[in-house]
Amino acid sequence: MSETKIKKKPSIRILGIETSCDETAAAVVQNGNKVLSNVIASQVELHAQYGGVFPEVASRQHVKVIYAVVEQALKEAHLDLKELDAIAVTRGPGLAGSLVVGMNIAKALSMSSGLSLIGINHLEGHIYSAWIHLDKKDKQKKPQFPLLALIVSGGHTTLIMMEEHLQYQQLGGTLDDAAGEAFDKVARLLGLSYPGGPAIQKAAETGNSLSFNFPRAWLDGSWNFSFSGLKTAVRRTLQELQAEGKAIKVNNLAASFQAAVVDVLATKTLLAARHFKARDILVAGGVSANRTLRKAFLKQKEFTVHFPPLSLCTDNAVMIAAAGYYHHLQGAHDELDMDVLPNWPLT
Ligand code: KG4
Ligand code: ZN
Repeated sequence: MSETKIKKKPSIRILGIETSCDETAAAVVQNGNKVLSNVIASQVELHAQYGGVFPEVASRQHVKVIYAVVEQALKEAHLDLKELDAIAVTRGPGLAGSLVVGMNIAKALSMSSGLSLIGINHLEGHIYSAWIHLDKKDKQKKPQFPLLALIVSGGHTTLIMMEEHLQYQQLGGTLDDAAGEAFDKVARLLGLSYPGGPAIQKAAETGNSLSFNFPRAWLDGSWNFSFSGLKTAVRRTLQELQAEGKAIKVNNLAASFQAAVVDVLATKTLLAARHFKARDILVAGGVSANRTLRKAFLKQKEFTVHFPPLSLCTDNAVMIAAAGYYHHLQGAHDELDMDVLPNWPLT
């Protein structure tokens, strides 16, 4: 009887580096979904006093901690640089001065080790965070193509159709404030802490979402979004309540605002999924951590909806390394003179 030797496929390990906004992050991921390390140095406390990200402060902080963050990611993965297969780094979109910090260390490491360097779009990073399952018992299937992806973060509200890995067709985006930005700005109006998303979610838990009928910008005939009118409506309501000497019930305002955002995001995404004949839906980005948003998607049974693990919704480098894996499989290798792309659209 002939013996058939089954050759184990070699593992591909990628170092991811992310510095596009206010998190300095590095991670090592194996085969696009096994997290070997995940280090995030958050700057949230530094920016909280400004109620938003202060770009100059962000880039300086990245410079301070990037080396230690990368070193820690390699240490926690128990790997030397030479045992890896490639380095993936966020090229954009994001804050120029912040992106440059991650790019420079990635280039230096690539030059010194000979590892190939892969430039990743931050939004595709968010998409690939939904391929990662941290819990071994998590039996959720991988997202299936054709796939409709909704990215909802502090900087973006974007609908993207994917027929295959790494193929992106942008259907629409925000015309003004991104969903997360609206959460942050409304939280500030309501006197809640930064970042606004988690603060509004918490306040809304004890509020009545039917207290105020805030406007929904449907923008019929397009796959775009707009949240600035909603933010203005919350401001006006607050001013009217103050002028009339009425009690300001922050929890009710937060719940009604959140319901309006979730209504538009879920309704338009489901419509688009039907229209473009998607098989599955994927929701990623900081706002995808929102419980009410998840519930709105999960209450329908027409589409399987995939979310990243809660800890990987906001910015991290695991998602950059995961996206890097798929580029690596395609033989991607960017040149060492590549520049950052602060306004890079995902197309
Ligand atoms: O993806 P992310 O970390 O950064 C960008 O790429 O922009 O997203 C940050 C955004 C912030 O606006 C924050 O308020 C929002 O995600 N966010 C949430 C929640 N957690 C974070 N929004 C709503 N509900 C949440 N639970
Ligand atoms: Zn992000």
